[in-house]
Amino acid sequence: MKNETVFICAECGKQLLKWMGRCPGCGQWNTIGEKQVSVSKGGGPARVVSPDEQNDLMCLSEVQSLHEPRLNTGIHELDRVLGGGVVRRSVILVGGDPGIGKTTLLMQALGLLSRKGEKVLYVSGEESFEQLKLRADRLGLAGNGFLVLVENELETILDKVSQAAPSVMVLDSVQSVFSRASDSHPGSPMQIREVAGRLLQTTKRGSAGCFIVGHVTKDGDLAGPKLLEHMVDAVLYFEGERGHPYRILRAVKNRFGSVSEIGVFEMTDAGLSEVANPSELFLSERPRDASGSAVTALVEGTRPILAEVQALVTGPVPGQGRRTCIGIDAQRLALIIAVMEKKLGLVLGDQNIFLNAVGGIRAIEPATDLAIAAAMLSSFLDKSIPSGTLVFGEIGLAGEIRSVSRASARLHEASRLGYTRIVGPVSNLDQFPKSREVVGIGISRIRELGAALF
Ligand code: TYD
Repeated sequence: MKNETVFICAECGKQLLKWMGRCPGCGQWNTIGEKQVSVSKGGGPARVVSPDEQNDLMCLSEVQSLHEPRLNTGIHELDRVLGGGVVRRSVILVGGDPGIGKTTLLMQALGLLSRKGEKVLYVSGEESFEQLKLRADRLGLAGNGFLVLVENELETILDKVSQAAPSVMVLDSVQSVFSRASDSHPGSPMQIREVAGRLLQTTKRGSAGCFIVGHVTKDGDLAGPKLLEHMVDAVLYFEGERGHPYRILRAVKNRFGSVSEIGVFEMTDAGLSEVANPSELFLSERPRDASGSAVTALVEGTRPILAEVQALVTGPVPGQGRRTCIGIDAQRLALIIAVMEKKLGLVLGDQNIFLNAVGGIRAIEPATDLAIAAAMLSSFLDKSIPSGTLVFGEIGLAGEIRSVSRASARLHEASRLGYTRIVGPVSNLDQFPKSREVVGIGISRIRELGAALF
């Protein structure tokens, strides 16, 4: 083995034999640095050796487990989505449409942390001190450890962060901050990578947990944030419809927890309040005795949640009907429609079909197949499904109704909310509640669906 010098891009890790101003791998400027590598005599591939690298083989059982200390923000819905609080030295990207409530959520989280005696820092590149104060008053936030900084220049921000040494900080937003190290304008992909990369380095060296806010652009691209997903430890999206008070926080990446948890909030005059019983919320405006509406039970992370699936089937129309779905997977819908046509003898090709999982929820688990079919059948026949009916089950291509996981948890939530008629897979029947009030209808084929529902 002998040592040789190679040049490596700090951004994308590309190895080069000579220094270049711009990395041919990722297009970034000034990211190429020099490194010593060991090269085998036979001319085998170069391998980077970091100064603190341990070259010995290790038995996995001897490797020490990493216990990441976590800070609970006190907002349970946020803590659960994070996997149990903010991990120190982690960087969490919070994306969402402008105005959806990212600032509100993170200011509230910092407010609670400061009340618990933590030193927190909110860095805003978008609002003035006075605007931040106005928000804090509106949200009822106070706390001596709540520091704010209004700044757009990254180098100054990093200086202040190291002076203040907060335990949690927020940078709002990555698009509004620029680094002197890059000539491009704030919000450009290069600036966004530079800002996030430097913040990431600082966070990994320090002890704070760091939230970075990123706005999604009109085309849903998360402007820069999409570029950052691979760099950060966790990516949370804050979603909701303008004009509706409900918001869903969803993890799409989490190195320290599951990505299947969701947090549900309601935007009020005094900020975001947690929704402890999302099922009640998602069903609160459900029309009684209307055709095209079915209630199903989803499992989001650890929680079962009841949700309404609505369908509108109209036609016939000339040519192929339109399919539009919100919160439902288009591929699964195509599969369900094909099975319904083949096994129920329905002609749906010339029908316009609109489907909506109400409240911004995502009904994409296979367990929701039967409710999607039930809502479509109900709309097609213009017959309402009796209230108090819960429908769940996976549909197979042969028209069979397959069992679903965590059926007991789903059914427990349904009986808590007074659902007493359960239409589900016959193979899950033994998990149906054993109560005189509950009528369990187990089906094994989709052709039994109509008789079971109406
Ligand atoms: P904001 O947190 O600024 O969104 P983002 O950081 O994602 O851009 O939210 C702004 C919206 O929230 C704005 O339309 C006003 C509304 N809002 C409330 O309804 N109640 C409140 O207490 C606050 C602070 C904001």
